[in-house]
Amino acid sequence: MATLRVALAVAAPRCRVLAQRGLWTQSRQQLAAAAAANGVARPSRRGLTTVSQAAAAAVTTLSRDEVITGHPSNNVTDAIYSKIGVNLHLQPTHPIGIIKQAIYDYFDKQHPDTFKKFDNLAPIVSAHANFDEVLVPADHVSRSPNDTYYVDPDTVLRCHTSAHQAELLRGGHSAFLCTGDVYRRDSIDATHYPVFHQMEGVRVFSAADWAGQEPTAYAETELKRTLEGLAQHLFGKVEMRWIDAYFPFTEPSFELEIFFKGEWLEVLGCGVMQQQILDKNLEAGHKAWAFGLGLERLAMVLFDIPDIRLFWTADQRFLKQFRAGDLSARFKSYSKFPPCYKDVAFWVSDAFTENNLCEVVRGIAGDLAEEVKLIDTFTHPKTGRTSNCYRIAYRSMDRSLTDDEINALQEEVRSTIASKLGVELR
Ligand code: PHE
Repeated sequence: MATLRVALAVAAPRCRVLAQRGLWTQSRQQLAAAAAANGVARPSRRGLTTVSQAAAAAVTTLSRDEVITGHPSNNVTDAIYSKIGVNLHLQPTHPIGIIKQAIYDYFDKQHPDTFKKFDNLAPIVSAHANFDEVLVPADHVSRSPNDTYYVDPDTVLRCHTSAHQAELLRGGHSAFLCTGDVYRRDSIDATHYPVFHQMEGVRVFSAADWAGQEPTAYAETELKRTLEGLAQHLFGKVEMRWIDAYFPFTEPSFELEIFFKGEWLEVLGCGVMQQQILDKNLEAGHKAWAFGLGLERLAMVLFDIPDIRLFWTADQRFLKQFRAGDLSARFKSYSKFPPCYKDVAFWVSDAFTENNLCEVVRGIAGDLAEEVKLIDTFTHPKTGRTSNCYRIAYRSMDRSLTDDEINALQEEVRSTIASKLGVELR
């Protein structure tokens, strides 16, 4: 959850693991408290009034003008636009496509002919579908333009595949898997990237299924059994744990975490669907579970892929390590180029957020940016101004970078954050 990550990082960098939890899981009270404690303003919502709804165009026909609209609320960059339509999940020999298929195989084996699959729904959706239809409160931080890419005030790049829950329920589907690319403004490190892939799963039950048991308890048990079976199917033996969570669209809610490289990594969120969503989109008398899982994170754990940027490389030394249907591959590193660290210190401005800084860095350095990390912060006792120092790690996974090249990137980052974000360089 990007905004919280900023707030916690400012308070105490040691909270980083907690701060990397999902977009939805922190309560609004926690967010406000963290922000207040650190003097970090929560981003204000832009007025969501204009009515110009981009049609849900097919992915392949989205021109740049349809995505980068020129509307004042538009915050989609060219770097983000260039990812639309790549559809790693549709490439059968790519790790993302392989893991998608492995999950399909599990569900088809457990419940033949039950789950309908959707994997080509366009990533541009209405804000209504992305937020309102899954009961995200009007003032929830996930709606902030600091966290979500807006095409115009009524249209977003979906930030989760849950955006399709309601429409698929209305379409009469009572069990489905929906896979696609999702977009979130976020900070930069080995497990976060502004575009990633999710699979949504939903299964609807009726009285004949729960057969006299308490329906919510029945759905919860069925959900956990299903997902534990999936984890087994993918990983065999792996350490995992259930965490109680909060999502606006499920109650109760849980996250599944898997132990990976010395840390617990959140790989999915799930829960028993809010009755209101079912009642609005189906006739009465149903109960359902839903989950949303992150394909990159599952693939990182399964194939031992250390950095999320690798999924986007065109380097054959990466791509040729994987084959359709083969879950046994383990990534072998082909380069050990050293990172180069550059620090930048500045007095923050109103327009400054960590996500805005990271968007600038990605726009300039692209995938050469490996990590952006707050290493020091203090507030001047007299003026009350806050100074931040960030350390940017530059590293290519494919080649070595020259000093000149990195210095030029860093210079451009410095001048752009001064001109675009209004920070005062120190
Ligand atoms: N949409 C949630 C996310 O993106 C995941 C989720 C899906 C949680 C369905 C519960 C039910 O983090």
